[in-house]
Amino acid sequence: MEDRAIGMTRRLKRRGREALDRIGPRRSENRVIAEAAQYWTSPAEPAWAGNSHWRTGIPGQWEKVGQDHLALFDKLARVLDTPPSFGTVAEWGCGGGANAVAFAPRAERFVAVDVVRASLDECREHTLAACDVDFVPLLVEVENPEAAVDTIGRASCDVFLCLYVVELLPSAEYATRILRIARAVLAPGGVAFIQVKYRDSDGRTAPRRSYARNLASQTIFPIDHFWKLAGQTGFRPEAVHLVPENELDRNYAYFLLTAA
Ligand SMILES: C[S@@+](CC[C@H](N)C(=O)[O-])C[C@H]1O[C@@H](n2cnc3c(N)ncnc32)[C@H](O)[C@@H]1O
Repeated sequence: MEDRAIGMTRRLKRRGREALDRIGPRRSENRVIAEAAQYWTSPAEPAWAGNSHWRTGIPGQWEKVGQDHLALFDKLARVLDTPPSFGTVAEWGCGGGANAVAFAPRAERFVAVDVVRASLDECREHTLAACDVDFVPLLVEVENPEAAVDTIGRASCDVFLCLYVVELLPSAEYATRILRIARAVLAPGGVAFIQVKYRDSDGRTAPRRSYARNLASQTIFPIDHFWKLAGQTGFRPEAVHLVPENELDRNYAYFLLTAA
């Protein structure tokens, strides 16, 4: 009983703080980018390993993340006229490798992109323990994600993954930059599998204060908005799948897009 009361008090406090974080002036794009860069390069922060999806950070969930994503990818890919090729797979924001261990065994080359060197190392270790793919780690700066395009190679990828990442990007504009990068590195007909946190009927909007406190809901999209945005950035949206709640969070929309 006491535990329930404590739990409820904590939830109420969190909601109050979240509500406060949603009011006030919007921070500039550069300021949020700087806060994001500061957060990801501070691994001593207590929730960091969990937020980076290291195996030790989400015990009991890590294996399931990649397995569930691969199963959903295969399910959604059935709407495509031709099955996707897996020659080169790129993952934007690979974290501790939960998706890499599931997708890389199908690929010849796996390009793991992240803003944290230690996460690239962690991802590499798990991926190479799972398979002998050609593993290419690529460190990008939060400020300059476009620098990745020439290193990955234009039109060089068959599959582009971005999972549990869009929600923590600094803004919808920044997420649009990642869509453009995805389009640039994918070969025509290549497939992007992108997970987005969606705005539901309770109308929650993205917080305006403190990246570190709200990183998992920095960038929230109405589903139709992201679908349209994909069309405007050179993709053909093929399917969307909603996960209203899972063990890690809630309001997830998975988009399967082909490079038009
Ligand atoms: C929640 S983890 C997700 C890891 C993995 N995609 C998964 O599903 O398990 C978020 C990852 O995104 C990375 N990240 C944060 N901002 C990024 C950015 N602007 N570009 C690329 N990666 C970023 C973080 O370092 C972290 O590894």
